[in-house]
Amino acid sequence: MNVYDSQILAGLLQNAGYEQIHDPNLADLVLCNTCAIRHKAQEKAYSFLGRFAGTRIKGKRPLTVMAGCVAQKEKEKAFVRLPHLDLVLGTQAFGRFAAHLNALISGETRIVDTEPSENIFEGFSKDALPGKVQISRFVTIMQGCENFCTYCVVPYVRGKERSRDPFAIVEEIEGLAASGVREITLLGQNVNSYAGNNGQVSFADLLHLVSKVDGIERIRFATSHPKDLSNDLIQALKDIDKVCNHLHLPVQSGSNDILKRMNRKYDRDTYFKRISALRQACPDIALSTDLIVGFPGETVSDFQQTMDLLEAVEFDAVFAFSYSARSFTPAAKFSNQLDEQTKKERLNALLDFQEKITEKKNKSFVGKKVTVLVEGDSPKTRDGFVKKNKNTRQMFGRNDANKIVHFASDRAAIGDLVTLEIINAYPHSLWGEVCESD
Ligand code: 5AD
Ligand code: SF4
Repeated sequence: MNVYDSQILAGLLQNAGYEQIHDPNLADLVLCNTCAIRHKAQEKAYSFLGRFAGTRIKGKRPLTVMAGCVAQKEKEKAFVRLPHLDLVLGTQAFGRFAAHLNALISGETRIVDTEPSENIFEGFSKDALPGKVQISRFVTIMQGCENFCTYCVVPYVRGKERSRDPFAIVEEIEGLAASGVREITLLGQNVNSYAGNNGQVSFADLLHLVSKVDGIERIRFATSHPKDLSNDLIQALKDIDKVCNHLHLPVQSGSNDILKRMNRKYDRDTYFKRISALRQACPDIALSTDLIVGFPGETVSDFQQTMDLLEAVEFDAVFAFSYSARSFTPAAKFSNQLDEQTKKERLNALLDFQEKITEKKNKSFVGKKVTVLVEGDSPKTRDGFVKKNKNTRQMFGRNDANKIVHFASDRAAIGDLVTLEIINAYPHSLWGEVCESD
C-alpha cells in the first residue's frame, strides 16, 4: 500500500513541477512515506529524515516531508526528533498536499495535517516509481481497519474502513492495462470487507468486474482476514481464471490462547477448516501467511503450536515478524512482555523450520509445468544457463504462486506469459526450460 501511496505522492509532486532525482542530498524537497507497523520501520523513517537536517544547497536546506502512517501516529511529536521537518502529512491528507506545498513555498513552516477524510483520495498516477516493475502494479481498493487486533497500530493510523468506488477502480485498471500492465494486486487491510457502491458490490463481485478488463492477465489480492474468508470468495478463486491460484491468509499464531489475546476472532481449528475448504475447491492453491513470534505471554508450548501449524499446513511462503510493542495498542500494555533475545531465538527457529518446508515445496515443482509472467532479465546468472546464441538472455518471471522462476530464452519479452518445465529448485527460486510449443 505504501508503494501505491508513494506513487500518488510522486505524481502530486510532478504536478507541482518537481522531478525525481537520484541523489537525495541534491534535492529541493525530500519526502519520506513511512510505515508504522513495527518499531524498526518507524526508526528507519526518523533516521532517514534526520539526515537532511544539516544538508545545504546554495545556502538552504531541502523542504522535508514526513508522510503516511508514522506521520499520522506522531503528529506534532515528530518535531521533537526532527526540528527541521516542514510538513507532517497524515494518511488521509493526500488531497491537501498540493495546498500545503504552496503554503511551505510561501514561507509557512511546521505544518501538521492528520485530519481524516471521508473518501480515499483519487489521485492515481500511471507512472510506476523508478525501480518498480511496470507490468505488475498495485491498486488500493479499500483502506482502514476496524478489527483492532491487540498488537496492531493500523486501525489507529489508517482509520475506519472505507471502500473505493468500484467504477473508479475499474477505470484505473483499464488505464493501467492500456499502458501495458498485465498483472494487478488489489490492496486493502482486509479486502474481504470491501463494500463498494454503498455496500452493493462485494469483494467477490469486484473480482468479477476487474477480470473483465482486457489486457489484464492476472489478478492478485492482499490481505484476507481468516474470519472473513467467505465461501463466495473461495468460489471466485475457483471460477475466475485470471485470479491467481494463491491466497495470503495471515494466521499470526497457532495457539488458541494467543489468538484469543490477539483478538483475532478465530481459533486454530477454524483456520484449518478454512484451509481445507480452500484446498477442496482449488487443490493446487498456493498459500502464504504472516506470523508474529514472541507476542506478550507466548509460552514455549504456544510457540510449539505455531511450529506444528506450519508443519500441518505447509505454506508456500511465510512472513514472520518478531512482536514489536506499538503505541495505542492494548498488547503494548500487557504485563508479560518477552525479552528481545527470546523473540529473536524463536523467530530464527521458525524461519529455519519454514525454509525446509519451502525447499521441499519448491522441489515438488520439479518436472511440472508452470506459466510465468515475464518481469525482466535476471540480475545474476544461475546454474543451468546456457547461452545458445547471441540473443539468449536469462530472464525471470513469477508463477501463479508468486514464486520466482529463472529461464533462458532468446524470444521472451517482458509481459509475456511463458510456459516452463521446472528442471531445478533452489531455496528461493526455481529454474525452468521453455516448453517447445511456446
Ligand atoms: N509486531 C510485529 N508484527 C506485527 N504485524 C502487525 N503488527 C505487528 C507488531 N506490533 C505483522 C502482522 C501483520 C503484518 C502486516 O505485520 O503479522 O499481518
Ligand atoms: Fe491490523 Fe490486520 Fe488486525 Fe486490522 S486485521 S488490526 S490491519 S492485523
